[in-house]
Amino acid sequence: MNIKDVSNDFSVIDKVDYLNTASIGLVPNTVIEATQEFFIELARCGTLALDEEKESLVYDNLRKEGAKLLGCNAEDIAIFNSVSEALNSIAWSLELKDGKVVSTDVEFPSVTYPWLRIARKESIKVKLVNAKNWCISIDDLLDEIDEDTRVVALSHVEYLTGQKHDIKKIAKHAHEVGAIVVIDGIQAAGYLPINVRELNVDVYITGSYKWLLAPFGAAIAYISKKLCDRLEPAFVGWRSTEDMWNFNPRKLKFASTARKFEYSTSAYGVKVGLAESIKYLTKIGIEKIYNHNMKLTEILAEEINSTEDINVITPENRGSIITFKINGRDVRKVVEKLHKLKRPVELSIRQNMIRISPHIYNTEADILHLVDNLRKIIKGL
Ligand SMILES: Cc1ncc(COP(=O)(O)O)c(C=O)c1O
Repeated sequence: MNIKDVSNDFSVIDKVDYLNTASIGLVPNTVIEATQEFFIELARCGTLALDEEKESLVYDNLRKEGAKLLGCNAEDIAIFNSVSEALNSIAWSLELKDGKVVSTDVEFPSVTYPWLRIARKESIKVKLVNAKNWCISIDDLLDEIDEDTRVVALSHVEYLTGQKHDIKKIAKHAHEVGAIVVIDGIQAAGYLPINVRELNVDVYITGSYKWLLAPFGAAIAYISKKLCDRLEPAFVGWRSTEDMWNFNPRKLKFASTARKFEYSTSAYGVKVGLAESIKYLTKIGIEKIYNHNMKLTEILAEEINSTEDINVITPENRGSIITFKINGRDVRKVVEKLHKLKRPVELSIRQNMIRISPHIYNTEADILHLVDNLRKIIKGL
């Protein structure tokens, strides 16, 4: 089933083939307005616009929307400002001594860096499974998860290749040896139907500014009750407690839910924006968005697979990302030419490869326009 026409919600797409959501998503007009309105009212009117009840509601509403998106209870959601912040906060809250953390050597750096940093201070080992042609074999990954493993840290969909991992299978194996599973879902949530309970993960984090189509500055983290109950947050502040309006500096008593990981004020307008954008996406329907995005990536993969000198790196089990090499050509020159078209194509270069990442505002015509021009450019170089 086709998704509804959203072209009126995004002002730039009538001029550009915007195929770069894996980098930054476009924000729908209604979300821009909600975010801006909140910032302006707060800046102009202070507590006249934001009393204590309203301040609590900003995060309460986002937790509710986040829970619907990820298939859990609002009590299991903590709000952060970025995925990197959430990963660090949770990593430093864990007891890892003498254990092993398993990740991969093609992960986004924020997924591996917290553990590499902790390894400088504590006796932990970080094992990064080696990719083959930029992709990870699940067998290699499972082989590395053993009795010493405390944490498996992985993206649901890889930022570089779009590879989608079998999280359920990985979590089953990890739990059998007593390890927890921490998933970065920023390249998945917003188009991939997600149910953290079915995936059986311990932590699932996602951020605002890619597939969730909100501005920079917000992230949500599912933390399973079982894990949450045994963790003491590493970062604390006035918001970490059960009653944040109690202001008791003598006693640190954490909130009893995942909220205890929240500790400070933040750019609240963005949290309002993220709640709006999740509503926007779920109203269209995540399942429908998934089918739409996968159809576009399928067309793209088919077309370029039959194009000489293009080598698709993305495996079949993937998210809404297609990454390819162009043999014997300077990739920057190809991209320069795509940027200079009458209708420019916006995309990313990663590791000297081209990464294409379509979302709801893209159409089959965008993909065919890209393929057509790509072929002409490659021929001419
Ligand atoms: C997989 C992955 N994780 C994390 C990030 C960065 O998230 P943040 O800027 O919210 O820390 C990115 C950005 O590209 C990413 O692709």
